[in-house]
Amino acid sequence: MTKNFYITTPIYYPSAKPHMGHAYSSIIADFFARFKRIDGFDVNFLTGTDEHGLKIQRAAEKKGSDTLKFCDEISKTFRDLSKTLNLTNTDFIRTTEDRHKKSVQNLWKELENNDAIYLSKYSGWYSVSDEAFYSNDEIEELNGSKVAKSSKSPVEWMDEESYFFRLSKWEKKLLDYYEKNPDFISPKSRKNEVISFVKSGLKDLSVSRKSFSWGIPVPNNKEHVIYVWLDALTNYISALNYPDTNNQMYKDFWPASVHLIGKDILRFHAVYWPAFLLAAKLPLPKKVYGHGWILSGEEKMSKSKGNILDPIEIIDRYGLDPLRYYLIKEVSFGNDGNISQEKLEDCINSDLANNFGNLCQRVTAFAIKNCNGLIPKKIKFDKKDLEILDKFKSNLEIIRNKIDNQDINFYTDFIVKSLFETNKYFNDQEPWNKKDDILRLNTIIYTTLEIVRKISFMLYPIIPESSLNALKIFSIEEKEINFSSINNHNYLKEGDKINKIDILFKKIEKKND
Ligand code: MSP
Repeated sequence: MTKNFYITTPIYYPSAKPHMGHAYSSIIADFFARFKRIDGFDVNFLTGTDEHGLKIQRAAEKKGSDTLKFCDEISKTFRDLSKTLNLTNTDFIRTTEDRHKKSVQNLWKELENNDAIYLSKYSGWYSVSDEAFYSNDEIEELNGSKVAKSSKSPVEWMDEESYFFRLSKWEKKLLDYYEKNPDFISPKSRKNEVISFVKSGLKDLSVSRKSFSWGIPVPNNKEHVIYVWLDALTNYISALNYPDTNNQMYKDFWPASVHLIGKDILRFHAVYWPAFLLAAKLPLPKKVYGHGWILSGEEKMSKSKGNILDPIEIIDRYGLDPLRYYLIKEVSFGNDGNISQEKLEDCINSDLANNFGNLCQRVTAFAIKNCNGLIPKKIKFDKKDLEILDKFKSNLEIIRNKIDNQDINFYTDFIVKSLFETNKYFNDQEPWNKKDDILRLNTIIYTTLEIVRKISFMLYPIIPESSLNALKIFSIEEKEINFSSINNHNYLKEGDKINKIDILFKKIEKKND
């Protein structure tokens, strides 16, 4: 039986070019996609751009551009970034594509058929920046203007005819669902805020706009466009060819395994989206994970705050894999995190260049010199060797389970600890003093190489290019990487060639060094 895994990133607003926050969501999703793939899963990994709504229309107007042309240009920078970040997304969806419009209009009709939508009038606050409606108690006064308390984005008064979704009807059903599926909203720390929002009473949700036209028309009433969040959330099934629920993509991948999102858009994914799906009688995603923010100082990094960090600049300066490593390991997953140049340079120097890169170089050079450049024949593991090798075996299932619970910190800690222990093992075993005991010498070299191989497999989801460079030592190619083999102590074949490799990471010379 094939095991399927479907992971999504939020679809990004192409109102301005991508920043580090966007890169973060995408890199984390890629980590999970790559891990699942090397663990034998058939992976569908979706990302894309969210192109409708007033926010985009205004951004295009400001530039004096045609709205679609404006979206074409910026959406391309997100698509290009996917390549720059070495993402393995299997699709890239744009909400201006026909496949998506068809899907949204069908979902709308389904909702109408199920009496989930009615026409009325909306009077209330709206934030264009968040594309969200706010009640009176969710707004405050800041420097003389009204803003949303949660995001501090300006709100404007809206008064117009609108279709409404009967959100209030789903209050109890949603609460039941959260209770029966305790991992649906993750991490646990974010669950309560959603539950208390739902418990505080759900009001019906305005799901169409009449005062502008940049959106998907409501079927049978062209005066309205569909609310951008109802439009955007549907992308997750548009990409599986919804409304054709009998096609293989939909059957294989819906419900999604994880919607990975930032904590700022949890309400849309954990309340509105499941309610829309319930009303359309469609299955709900298995999990919504709201990660923390990349901060600039103490604030969320965002265009409107003018404090953005450009991922491309960091990549140009330090390389992609160091950035991926930093974001995956150094930002404690689930919490907010900062990017500091100093910490990034420390990571490169100590974890990547010293602990990993140097280990690879040392053991390869030693093996080439002392074993004719071949994986040693005749080995006999003793207690010390088995102790270090067995840690991978005994942790295999634990790691799988941790990954299924998005415990990235466990995964990276395990790697860092293993690297430390392997360096220590190599030093303590002093293979350079064992030249008279060939069996022992061979065994130490074999054991260390075997661990380098295991760790390189585990590093592949984090730093794919560097992992593949390291695996050149053994002429192992990408398609051969599989996680389940980390419990095999005899993966490397005796007599196979050991190759010298280029330096994996250059050390950064720090000013105060
Ligand atoms: N278009 C909506 C999402 C629709 S999903 C059906 C949207 N777009 S966004 O471009 O404003 O932001 C998308 C996501 O980017 C955020 O939810 C978050 O995952 C990520 N980030 C944006 N800024 C961020 C930080 N400063 N830090 C970390 N991630 C943040 O919302």
